Amino acid sequence: MPILDSHSIEFFSRSPEQTRRVGMRLGGMLQSGDVVGLVGDLGAGKTTLVQGIAQGWGSLDAVSSPTFVLVNQYRRPDGQVLYHLDSYRLGSVEEAIDLDLDIMMENGALVVEWAELIKPALPKDTLWIQLRWVADERRNMVFTPTGERYEKIMAEFRHQVFGG
Ligand SMILES: Nc1ncnc2c1ncn2[C@@H]1O[C@H](COP(=O)(O)OP(=O)(O)OP(=O)(O)O)[C@@H](O)[C@H]1O
Ligand SMILES: [Mg+2]
Repeated sequence: MPILDSHSIEFFSRSPEQTRRVGMRLGGMLQSGDVVGLVGDLGAGKTTLVQGIAQGWGSLDAVSSPTFVLVNQYRRPDGQVLYHLDSYRLGSVEEAIDLDLDIMMENGALVVEWAELIKPALPKDTLWIQLRWVADERRNMVFTPTGERYEKIMAEFRHQVFGG
C-alpha cells in the first residue's frame, strides 16, 4: 500500500467489480453531512465507484450516470439520503450553489463527480478521490482526506481494505 503523504492512500483497481467493492466499503462508512469529491477524466470510473458507494450506503435503488439528471438521490431504509451530483454539465459554481448544495449537505451525504469544477462550493473538509485510467481494466485511485472526519474514515478504510 503506497502512501503518498501521511494522509493519502493509493489503490490500484483491476476491474469494475473491484472498483465497486472499494466503493461499497466507503459507502458503508458514510453518514449524513459527509462530502466526497471525485476527480478524473471521462471513463476514469467515477460512476462505477459511486455504484459501489450507493450499494454500501444501503440504497435499494440502482445507480445510473447522472450526466443528464444533474442530481440522483439514493435513499436507505433509515431515511438518510445519498445525493449524487455530476458537475460536468454545470456551467458555473453559481449553478451548483443554485442547486441548493447546502441543503443537500445538511440533509444527507453528497458524492460529486467532476468535483474540481465546483470546488469553491464544497466544504474545506472533503474526502477527495482522484481516479486515473491506467490500462484497459486498470485504474489508479488516490484518496486524500481533508479534516479529521475523513482522516478517521480513511484510517478505518485502510484497515478494512489492506488489513493491519
Ligand atoms: N477497474 C475499473 N474501474 C472502474 N471502471 C472500469 C475499470 N475497468 C474498466 N472500467 C470501465 O470503465 C468505464 C468507466 O466508466 P464510468 O462511467 O464509471 O466513468 P466516469 O469516470 O463516471 O466517466 P464520466 O466522466 O463520463 O462520467 C466503465 O465502462 C467501466 O466498466
Ligand atoms: Mg460518470
